[in-house]
Amino acid sequence: MPGASTWPGDAMAKKRVAVLISGRGSNMASLIEAAKAPDYPAEIALVLSNRPDAPGLELARKADVPTAVVDHRPHGKDRAAFERMLQHALDEHRVELICLAGFMRLFTREFVLRWHGRMLNIHPSLLPSFPGLDPHGQALRAGVKISGATVHFVIPETDAGPIIAQGEVPVLAGDTPDTLAARVLTVEHRIYPLALKLVVQGRVQMVDGRSIVDGGPASDGFLMMPRD
Ligand code: GRF
Repeated sequence: MPGASTWPGDAMAKKRVAVLISGRGSNMASLIEAAKAPDYPAEIALVLSNRPDAPGLELARKADVPTAVVDHRPHGKDRAAFERMLQHALDEHRVELICLAGFMRLFTREFVLRWHGRMLNIHPSLLPSFPGLDPHGQALRAGVKISGATVHFVIPETDAGPIIAQGEVPVLAGDTPDTLAARVLTVEHRIYPLALKLVVQGRVQMVDGRSIVDGGPASDGFLMMPRD
């Protein structure tokens, strides 16, 4: 019937995701890589950086992913003004979900609530342990035997919010923050694509400030240290 056709892709349209970065972009790269799979339910529609010189931007361009820069510096302490520019870029690219991946800016409460349930973050510790800066140094000083990474929904409090997926690694004798960071990063690259997929598939519900994941465990490859 003329005029009544539905684009066949509509029913299975991939969620349009923006990855927000400030630096290297290795988690961004892992999301781009995962999203290449035909059956992955999200596409990386935008990589956005607040730093024009973020190395991750070049990686995104090489992968043919649209990029944008919203420099925070002209806005000084006016976070709302920065966020208006950010929101504009997100609207322009029809972004439905945000993945923060090493994005080093704090948001206003208003911005976070606007994206409630639609903004994820990755932090390189087993939250709620060691939020904030220098998580690997914090882990080493605490003497934990296991560390790891967490993907969570973003709420107004920093490095908090319902946990979607966690992966763990051993902390080894002689570790420095750098060696531990490198080990944790391998886990980050596995759990972020997994967590995004679960969210986009509608398999994660937020209940009483926690995430309930249906359809099985939220991450595989668990490792317990020390071993008996
Ligand atoms: C990662 O360790 C991430 O967990 C943290 O910042 C780092 C970003 O690394 N939030 P990359 O830019 O993804 O390589």
